[in-house]
Amino acid sequence: MTSQNEQATTSPDKKLWGGRFAESTAPLVEQYNASVPFDQRLYAQDIRGSLAHVAMLGRVGILQPDEVAQISAGLHDILADIQAGQFEWRLDREDVHMNIEAALRDRIGPIAGKLHTARSRNDQVAVDFRLFVKEAALELADLTRDLRRVMVAEAEKHLTSDGGSAVILPGYTHLQVAQPILLSHWFMAYAAMLERDEGRLRDAAARMDESPLGSSALAGTPWPIDRFDTAAALGFARPTANSLDGVGSRDFALEFLAACAVLMAHLSRLSEETVLYSTFEFGFLTLPDSHTTGSSIMPQKKNPDVSELARGKSGRVFGNLMGLLTVVKGTPLAYNKDLQEDKEGVFDSFDTCAITLRLYAEMLPKSVWNAHTTRAAAARGYSTATDLADLLARQGVPFREAHEVVGGLVGVASRSGRQLWELTDAEMKAAHPLLSAEVAASLTVEASVKGRLSHGGTAPERVQEAVAAAKAALE
Ligand code: ARG
Repeated sequence: MTSQNEQATTSPDKKLWGGRFAESTAPLVEQYNASVPFDQRLYAQDIRGSLAHVAMLGRVGILQPDEVAQISAGLHDILADIQAGQFEWRLDREDVHMNIEAALRDRIGPIAGKLHTARSRNDQVAVDFRLFVKEAALELADLTRDLRRVMVAEAEKHLTSDGGSAVILPGYTHLQVAQPILLSHWFMAYAAMLERDEGRLRDAAARMDESPLGSSALAGTPWPIDRFDTAAALGFARPTANSLDGVGSRDFALEFLAACAVLMAHLSRLSEETVLYSTFEFGFLTLPDSHTTGSSIMPQKKNPDVSELARGKSGRVFGNLMGLLTVVKGTPLAYNKDLQEDKEGVFDSFDTCAITLRLYAEMLPKSVWNAHTTRAAAARGYSTATDLADLLARQGVPFREAHEVVGGLVGVASRSGRQLWELTDAEMKAAHPLLSAEVAASLTVEASVKGRLSHGGTAPERVQEAVAAAKAALE
């Protein structure tokens, strides 16, 4: 087996930090130390950071205009080569930063070395990674918003899709039928979760919007650099306030990973419901062929793999958060090589969340809800028992007593395998003089849903308002 690391080229040249070393690096150390197999993903951010840095060095007079021009042109050439797939990533050059700097020296000669004036790799990695994570957070925020738009559209569609009326779903607590709800209300619950997920990602992006460039190795620099200039050039709101914190902190990545973890927890709950509701036993939901898979042995199978994988992949996204918390917690200020372990989990959480959001945005509009089945399921399980208790309480019976009376009726009905509306006039009256067969007959799921008019409740008017407000907010 070849590991990823072994596939990169290893024909060592003198290390960029090699001045004081008499012996060459042991091959295993080279392999262990190198981050280029994964941090090459930061090449665009690294080159942007270098271009901003070298332009600033020119502006403040540390470098001559022709030096700035040569270095910038060389960096642009390297960027083009990388984008064209014509760049040789070398393991002996350790990481993305030194690969690019060494390639610059190969191209323009020793003047390339002036690029590293008044900066450190600690600066570079901190700025590259912040740029990446900020962009990733904003991209996931947009994808989260796209899925929310789908949830709201589904909610709107199912307000009228059952022959002009709204689709009714059993609402559960403890996965036991509790009270009927509108399917649209269920969609809007996920829309609400996704709205907060988007907010968390945007908040994280706003808080990390500071440039660490110019913190140098840890203590700042005696060179007359302009950190406000590079921060603005890179699209950051301002430079970080403290150089130790600038190069030593990774809470921006932790916050991103935490927002990803909560988002995946929500998508995992959605997945659990999708898996359950698409079973033969529930029969609520038919998933599209395009987003399900078959079995190699059982011809009848149609498996909800997307939902199962989303539920399963939440594990790695939670793990990425735990992983980085653990990496960071024991590190003294400022930079330690431990921090090189900050990247793969972030890349993985970003990729995992992005594809999962995209898949749900594709799959939900193509899924079919079986309104007959969901309505029948909502009617079973004595889901309108609370309505009956409320009905008694509205006529002055203390709610606790009403609860007791209805509990007795549920007992009578369940022992004889009947629903509440099948109880006889005599049975109803025996339970309470205010009750009758007529009252029993009024206990429909539609009436139950219509009555829940409280703010945030499932009554069709309330859900229509919620859909209208969400659509306005999304415009
Ligand atoms: N590859 C390193 C990382 O990802 C870059 C920073 C190296 N800094 C250092 N002082 N060795 O963390």
